[in-house]
Amino acid sequence: MRVLAIETSCDETSAAVVRTDGEAGPLAHGDPVAESVVILSQDIHKIFGGVVPELASRAHLTALPAVIDQALAQAGTTLEQLDGIVATQGPGLVGALLVGAMYGKGLAWTLSKPFLGVHHMEGHLFAAAIEDRTLKPPFVGLLVSGGHTQLLDVPEWGKYTIVGATKDDAAGEAFDKVGTLLGMAYPGGPKIEKLAKEGRPGRFKFPRPMLGELGHRGPDEYAFSFSGLKTAVLRAVQGSKDLEQDRADLCRDFQDAAIEVLVEKTAHLTEALGYPTVVVGGGVASNQTLLAALRKRLEGNARVLAGSLRLNQDNAAMIGAAGAWRMLRGERSGWDIEPRADLPVPELVGQTPRRCDAEAPRRRDAETP
Ligand code: KG4
Ligand code: ZN
Repeated sequence: MRVLAIETSCDETSAAVVRTDGEAGPLAHGDPVAESVVILSQDIHKIFGGVVPELASRAHLTALPAVIDQALAQAGTTLEQLDGIVATQGPGLVGALLVGAMYGKGLAWTLSKPFLGVHHMEGHLFAAAIEDRTLKPPFVGLLVSGGHTQLLDVPEWGKYTIVGATKDDAAGEAFDKVGTLLGMAYPGGPKIEKLAKEGRPGRFKFPRPMLGELGHRGPDEYAFSFSGLKTAVLRAVQGSKDLEQDRADLCRDFQDAAIEVLVEKTAHLTEALGYPTVVVGGGVASNQTLLAALRKRLEGNARVLAGSLRLNQDNAAMIGAAGAWRMLRGERSGWDIEPRADLPVPELVGQTPRRCDAEAPRRRDAETP
């Protein structure tokens, strides 16, 4: 199975050619190989401090044909040689999704090839499978990016229970908004991690939101909330007499607080389920401080896998891996398929997601922190 994959859910225009060599089953991810991955990050949003949906759609429209051509050329293949086309169906910004999904569907229709819409979050889980062939469920998934924060129970590929999600800001969104408060250009996440290394811990007493719920077996046991933490940083910034002097310490204490909550909830769930593996995905999975803390906390109990920086960010290779796995199992989308900003997680087992469990379509819009 060899597919062209398209990802345009937010501000990366991406195309990839992905081949699956292996079997596709509940425990087998199909051994995905990314023959090419082209990722074009849209710079325009830097000016606005967040993603502007309308600009994102237009930039996708302009860039997508060339991005696809380059992905095909890098893989040394043509559209005619492919077995199918897959594209992100949701969740994400609806206008941005529309460009990629309709382009992919149109291509498939004209080529008389099968088309499949893919769930973006399932893609983030499959990213780790591209780089680690040994990855096998059951595992706990921690998906952290600019648009989502989700803790998942994954007993098998294709079976996902959202055990916890953010009630307000996503983890990456909190990093970005704190970055803006500290005068950093968007996205603030990587800059905060870098500067935090120079900071002294413990000067600012920031809250560990919802950590107290852990162990109480209530509906919020594994839920996250980052907006109060962001406000606490705002108050500290307002109270600072010398922001230049305090910036590194603020980064350190904010990051320590955010990471402690993510690590404790993930580790607790992993131990409660008795799973041997944790998969961390999404842009914030590039935070090496987070990964190191999680590995230390779970040492001897579970291994922690995360993709490379390139495959943690939004990219089409992960969509291709998830899509090829499903296509190999015989799945096809009908020609009436449409993108959905709030697409529910496929084959959701157990609890029904609350509103906050779905990836909010415009969480990362430009707005005041
Ligand atoms: O997955 P991604 O590329 O796009 C979304 O789906 O949102 O994630 C981007 C997010 C941004 O919020 C960015 O600040 C964050 O990932 N990020 C980081 C780091 N690298 C990227 N956050 C914290 N530490 C990092 N090193
Ligand atoms: Zn994403």
